[in-house]
Amino acid sequence: MKTFYRLSEFLKQHKWQYIIGIIVLLIVDGLQLISPRIIGKVTDGLTDGTLTMNQIFKYAGIILLIACFIAVLRYAWRMLVMGTARDLEFWLRNKFFAHLETLSANFYNNKKTGDLMAHATNDINALRMTFGPGIVMITDALFIPVTTIIIMLATTDIRLTLLALIPLPFIAILMGVFGKLIQKRHRDVQAAFSDLTDKVQENMAGIRVVKSFVQENYETDKFLASNENYIDKNMSLVKIFGFMFPFVMFIASLSFIIVLGYGGSLTIKGEISLGQFTSFIAYLGLLTWPMMAIGQVVNILQRGIASMKRLNEIFETEPEIIDSPEVKDITQEELKPSIEFKNLTFTYPGALQPALKDINLRIESGKTLAILGRTGSGKTTLVNLILRMYNTKEGQLAVGDNDISTIPLKTLRESIGYVPQDNFLFSTTIRDNIAFSNISMDMDRVEQAAKFAHVYDNIMEFPLKFDTMLGERGVTLSGGQKQRVSIARAIAKDPKILILDDSLSAVDTKTEEKILEGLKEVMKNRTSIIIAHRISTLKEADEIIVLDEGTIVEQGTHQELVAMNGLYNSIYQKQLLEEKLENEA
Ligand SMILES: Nc1ncnc2c1ncn2[C@@H]1O[C@H](COP(=O)(O)OP(=O)(O)OP(=O)(O)O)[C@@H](O)[C@H]1O
Ligand SMILES: [Mg+2]
Repeated sequence: MKTFYRLSEFLKQHKWQYIIGIIVLLIVDGLQLISPRIIGKVTDGLTDGTLTMNQIFKYAGIILLIACFIAVLRYAWRMLVMGTARDLEFWLRNKFFAHLETLSANFYNNKKTGDLMAHATNDINALRMTFGPGIVMITDALFIPVTTIIIMLATTDIRLTLLALIPLPFIAILMGVFGKLIQKRHRDVQAAFSDLTDKVQENMAGIRVVKSFVQENYETDKFLASNENYIDKNMSLVKIFGFMFPFVMFIASLSFIIVLGYGGSLTIKGEISLGQFTSFIAYLGLLTWPMMAIGQVVNILQRGIASMKRLNEIFETEPEIIDSPEVKDITQEELKPSIEFKNLTFTYPGALQPALKDINLRIESGKTLAILGRTGSGKTTLVNLILRMYNTKEGQLAVGDNDISTIPLKTLRESIGYVPQDNFLFSTTIRDNIAFSNISMDMDRVEQAAKFAHVYDNIMEFPLKFDTMLGERGVTLSGGQKQRVSIARAIAKDPKILILDDSLSAVDTKTEEKILEGLKEVMKNRTSIIIAHRISTLKEADEIIVLDEGTIVEQGTHQELVAMNGLYNSIYQKQLLEEKLENEA
């Protein structure tokens, strides 16, 4: 039970739904016991000829009334128990998603999205089964056999009852055994299905690569194999179901054969009446379902416990990056956008080599820093630390002269406009993408940001303009358009610090110049960091650093760096030459 403590809040809030639901279910179970008794009475009345037409109407009326009650009450317990289980599913899924949103970038480095999806679907579904059908089954499995058997004993014959019950435990055992098999094969089906969806998803996303490498047939064959595996797994599940239900029914019918044989002889001998005989058969019919339920409920509970444990593991993963107890009360207005690295060395969790070594650097408020460096030299890492995607050692990184760990995370991140290297955009309208930092921002601000990022004209050429949908069900932007929408999104946030991670790589030098011109205007009183591979992007910066293998190897203004005649200058000369060749061509 301790496993389920995370649900206690919900269960407490909804205890009355469950309690009333179970009471209603018990009433239905009880009402079901009346009709067989009436049928017995009618049979006896008919055999000894004492039954009048009036009485027949009366009994028929009672049975009808009971049937009506049962119908209404069944609806009620379904809504109360099954409905509440759906609410539980809803509540838990929201909680799970909200928790996932708090976890840090590093958590996602080590988790497969597919697994998290499986937790959010299969595991939460298993819990719904436990707290919906599972509860109904437990109630029925406990109540119906006990009451029915008592009535059988009280109204008929002890030997007949005992004999008739012999096959029934086998139903429970069988259901338990089959249930285990079903669970295992169900897992195989799930795994085969997720393999299949992975293949489809990857192929759709990578369709351009598939086509350009002419691998359509190869991929189709691979899909065929995966699809065959899926149907094989499904067929083996279908086989079990196909075998289980007839087999259970067969065992149940053994009880009826016993009753027919032994009960029939008792009736002929006159030890029980015909009415007792018929109602006994009707009672026996009530017992099949709870026997099946006993077998199933064990499996459902086990699945629920296993799923809850898996979910608990995720729920218990603490977000690594949170406000520490020493956090100061700094508002966004108070935060000065200066940034300082002091002897910073940073190693990714689990990595052998530090990604950044001995970084010493101060960026004053309002200044522009540019970072140049070969791929893998640590540029993205450096800016990720400013965003506090990872924790740094105390005293190594300060923003506005506060150690980064003492700044409220919300203040810090709200102060930074970040244009990530991969320019991720959401599958929604262009407007909503640009207004992502504050979805209710007014249209003027969105348009202004688009103008600064030099993407306004492109957007206006789309038929739906700012309402154009992006992503899977919308248009695909070009690489350069994506970059600029992503820049507009950062500018629209009106940040104190703007970070562009290789954000102008996909636009031509002319557009780049215009964007930089626009940015100068926007960034007048703010701090900016521009990462680039092209000297043209960064030569105007107040300060430029050159990173190599995680260390700053050169530092200064464009003029100073050229004069230094080192790495920077050699890259610069190479790019100048390339430009010259291009112009001549
Ligand atoms: N999450 C991570 N875990 C472990 N190592 C990482 C992680 N992210 C990056 N690295 C490593 O850190 C080093 C610096 O990577 P980084 O992304 O900062 O390079 P970069 O300078 O931005 O390169 P590029 O110009 O290609 O974007 C690389 O060696 C990289 O393999
Ligand atoms: Mg990078």
